[in-house]
Amino acid sequence: MAKLRVGIIGLGFIGTQKHLVGLAQHQDKAEVVAFCDYEIDRAEKALAAHGAEGAYATTDYKELLADPSIDVVHVCTWNVSHKEITIAALEAGKHVLVEKPMAVTGADAHEMAETAKRVGKKLSVGFQYRFRNEAQFLRKAIDEGRLGEIYAAKAHAVRRRGVPIWGVFTDETKQGGGPLIDLGGHAIDQALWFMNNYEIESVTGVVNYKLGDKPEGNMAGPWDPETYTVEDSAFGFVKFTNGASLFVEAAWALNVQDSREGCVTLMGTDGGADTDMLPGKNDLKVTLNNVQGGELVKTSPEPGAAYFGAPGGAPDGFTYMGGLEAEAWLNCIINDTDPYVTADQAAVVTDILDAIYTSARTGQPVVFNQLAGIDSTEPATV
Ligand SMILES: NC(=O)c1ccc[n+]([C@@H]2O[C@H](COP(=O)([O-])OP(=O)(O)OC[C@H]3O[C@@H](n4cnc5c(N)ncnc54)[C@H](O)[C@@H]3O)[C@@H](O)[C@H]2O)c1
Repeated sequence: MAKLRVGIIGLGFIGTQKHLVGLAQHQDKAEVVAFCDYEIDRAEKALAAHGAEGAYATTDYKELLADPSIDVVHVCTWNVSHKEITIAALEAGKHVLVEKPMAVTGADAHEMAETAKRVGKKLSVGFQYRFRNEAQFLRKAIDEGRLGEIYAAKAHAVRRRGVPIWGVFTDETKQGGGPLIDLGGHAIDQALWFMNNYEIESVTGVVNYKLGDKPEGNMAGPWDPETYTVEDSAFGFVKFTNGASLFVEAAWALNVQDSREGCVTLMGTDGGADTDMLPGKNDLKVTLNNVQGGELVKTSPEPGAAYFGAPGGAPDGFTYMGGLEAEAWLNCIINDTDPYVTADQAAVVTDILDAIYTSARTGQPVVFNQLAGIDSTEPATV
């Protein structure tokens, strides 16, 4: 079978550090033939490092989409452009892997998912944390029934002082928000995926602008308060139609004891689970909380001990997860199956992000329409 021909749009951090290194691990399945970035030197540098024979660089994504030889497009640009570029790529007949967050609003995300269905192309979103060792272990434990019915969860996306000072992260106009839309999506995606619950009844949110002018002590050095235009923390409470609940916490700066990012707490009828960051490692620790023989028992598989075939030692995050993400993505196109991260699932993650911001702005909960039996995912504010 001919290799899939990939075009990549956006060659900043994630385009180069996850997508290109991930695709490079599957050169038997795909080759990268077009590189697009507003900054031509970024596109040319990536082309030199990863380009297939005859590959080219451009600053115009429309030129890339007009190339009929391209089968697959990876969208790795700033958040506010995800919808426009993804829909244009789908309409041009390409399969699309778009970075998270899928879009800035839930309505846009659902429009992207519907477009993919209408044109019959695959659409997936870059929630690579699902491929982490502990996430795969936990997914298997849940599928084996070790937690029972998961009726409550927490999505943790908290850094004590971890404001990214590179790129455009702190620019509301390019990202559509701060730590909630940046980090929050990963943790929410994990929680929904583990709960296997995408039926939201309502969302209540609070967003804080308290520490933007206090840049001391930041992991990556002080940020510029003048250009810091996003929230520093956000909290949300999600109620599902079956009565289950999810608490969301997201922060780049918060006066807490520890950072806990991309982690979840799950509470089920037969057991619970926590994922926690291991200091200094890319791997996380997963703990199952059960009752056995009348005793309260905690079990944790040993990280790096190949408990489901992963290589020993802490794998390098983006290289390792990017390789697995690229493999699952390319396979779903080759085998014509659903993506591992479906567009419908990712759109619900964006519904929640959007609803937390909306609820914080209006001071009211956002109530979703499924309750009224209306087949619509548009959040309505009461
Ligand atoms: N999956 C993850 O864990 C993860 C991690 C970091 C970033 N991201 C996501 O990846 C996306 C990009 O983030 P980043 O950190 O790589 O940003 P970045 O600023 O480092 O890179 C983005 C690049 O896209 C280019 N660009 C933007 N709009 C363009 C357009 N319309 N046409 C051509 N080029 C365009 C910019 O010039 C820049 O080089 C964001 O949506 C972010 O949320 C995901």
